[in-house]
Amino acid sequence: MDVVVVTGSAGLVGGEAVRALASRFDLVVGVDNGMRRHLFGPAGSVAENLAEVEGIPNYRHHRVDVRDESALTALFGEYGTDVRLVVHAAGQPSGEWAAGRPVVDLNVNAVGTVNVLEAVRRHCPEAVVVLTSTTEVYGDVPDSLPLVETGTRWELDPAHPYHEHGVDESIRLGGNRTFHGVSKLAADLAAQTYADLLGLRVGVFRCGSVTGARHAGVEQAGFLSHLVRSAVRGATFPVIGHGGKQVRDVLDARDLVEMFWHFYRDPRPGEVYHAGGGREGGTSILELIARYEYLTGQEVRFEYVPRHRFADVRWWITDNRKFRRDYPDWRPAHDLADTLRSVHERWVDVDPTGLNGLSAS
Ligand SMILES: NC(=O)c1ccc[n+]([C@@H]2O[C@H](COP(=O)([O-])OP(=O)(O)OC[C@H]3O[C@@H](n4cnc5c(N)ncnc54)[C@H](O)[C@@H]3O)[C@@H](O)[C@H]2O)c1
Repeated sequence: MDVVVVTGSAGLVGGEAVRALASRFDLVVGVDNGMRRHLFGPAGSVAENLAEVEGIPNYRHHRVDVRDESALTALFGEYGTDVRLVVHAAGQPSGEWAAGRPVVDLNVNAVGTVNVLEAVRRHCPEAVVVLTSTTEVYGDVPDSLPLVETGTRWELDPAHPYHEHGVDESIRLGGNRTFHGVSKLAADLAAQTYADLLGLRVGVFRCGSVTGARHAGVEQAGFLSHLVRSAVRGATFPVIGHGGKQVRDVLDARDLVEMFWHFYRDPRPGEVYHAGGGREGGTSILELIARYEYLTGQEVRFEYVPRHRFADVRWWITDNRKFRRDYPDWRPAHDLADTLRSVHERWVDVDPTGLNGLSAS
């Protein structure tokens, strides 16, 4: 029997992994303790997503906390060498949240990852593992690039080598970073060490801004989803820092999962890949608001919040070319407009009045 284990299976990335992989494996084993609601309140709840994936016939859910080493070991022991692929997407995703509770953050992201890797080593050492790391491991290093301010965005100096394709994996690790950046970097380095020292078949994906219809976006995590949710229910969206000119590149979670699938079929253990929307997916917050209003006719009420998030860089565009060199058949199937529309349709459908817990504005 071919088994895929997906941690964070009720979340954005994990949920899309379950959907995409259910037809490609005999059994999908999901691990999620529903912690997103504990992190962000009812608006962050993934209960809806969980109910959806639990409706998939070959899905089996385990409400296990990745911090619980013995529970994870028992779970992996149950499926043993039938496990072919592990998608590790359980995590605490917010830099702001981590600032108040670094111990919890480090335990979930760093210790939780080592628990998963160790369970793989003991029970299914031939399995392929993909780790959802983040470009936040670079902290504010990208802010030292030569940037220019335009009317709607920060942009990299056109003479800079990163301008055309974005930032590649050679950018240095350093600068200021959030505790979330620290915990994700610890996990990222541990995963590489499990590959290099212990021979596990692990790939590390440093993701930019990943989103999709099932992202429970809140102020602290998931800006595109939070923007759409706010607009759909007529709430005011807070534009935090940089006058809304900060640039991010958006990758649809469905395209990220296809990267995992390509890696699984031809793994390159220990490799680190950037995974983002690239130049085509790049947008500032202000541009995103305009594009969303144009695409959907839905007005966005927003207000500027005159504070910067710590280590919140002004510009990030991901260079995916290393991955595309190794896996030339991968191309993102969803552009920014497509993703925006699907997020909009989802929230019009699920949460037109904010019943999922967003407080009234
Ligand atoms: N979405 C992005 O833009 C983005 C960018 C870079 C990296 N990442 C990383 O990718 C991973 C997945 O991101 P996402 O956007 O799907 O997040 P998400 O919050 O939507 O999903 C994470 C899931 O993990 C679960 N979870 C949290 N703590 C847990 C624990 N202790 N035990 C078991 N389950 C737990 C949550 O309940 C949630 O369902 C995270 O590790 C995140 O840091 C995401």
